[in-house]
Amino acid sequence: MTDSENNTQASQIPRPSVFTSRRQFIQLGIAVVGAAWAGTFVQSKLFPQASAQEARPVELSLSELPVGGTKTITYAGAPAIVIRTAESIKAFSLVCTHLGCIVQWQAGNKEFYCPCHDGRFDQFGEVIAGPPPVPLEQLPVTVEGERVVVGDLV
Ligand code: FES
Repeated sequence: MTDSENNTQASQIPRPSVFTSRRQFIQLGIAVVGAAWAGTFVQSKLFPQASAQEARPVELSLSELPVGGTKTITYAGAPAIVIRTAESIKAFSLVCTHLGCIVQWQAGNKEFYCPCHDGRFDQFGEVIAGPPPVPLEQLPVTVEGERVVVGDLV
């Protein structure tokens, strides 16, 4: 068999259509993009996160916050908590740093608990268990006399 006969036979061998392959590739791409969009949509509905609302300072009175007490507030459109101990007043966002669920302050354990995936944070917002990758966001607190301000003073 000569080279020209081999080339002729090779060109007659049916090959899969390039068009079919591209079509499948495009369909796969559309399916992947659609699944990613749907996943993001479902996640945003199941685990709402703080929107990029303006972070306006929240003002409290010390009388609203006895030693050992807490006060939940809304800061930048998301729930937050102010905790007063004998030593300090601290404020934390209650939005879990894993997937954005709302964590619960458990005063008895002095921990924050996220019910979505059993995430736990200590009283300083540091991760002590579960999947959260970083600590809870600590918010700035300023105490001026009887006034407690959460957020940046203007
Ligand atoms: S969202 Fe809080 S641990 Fe997953």
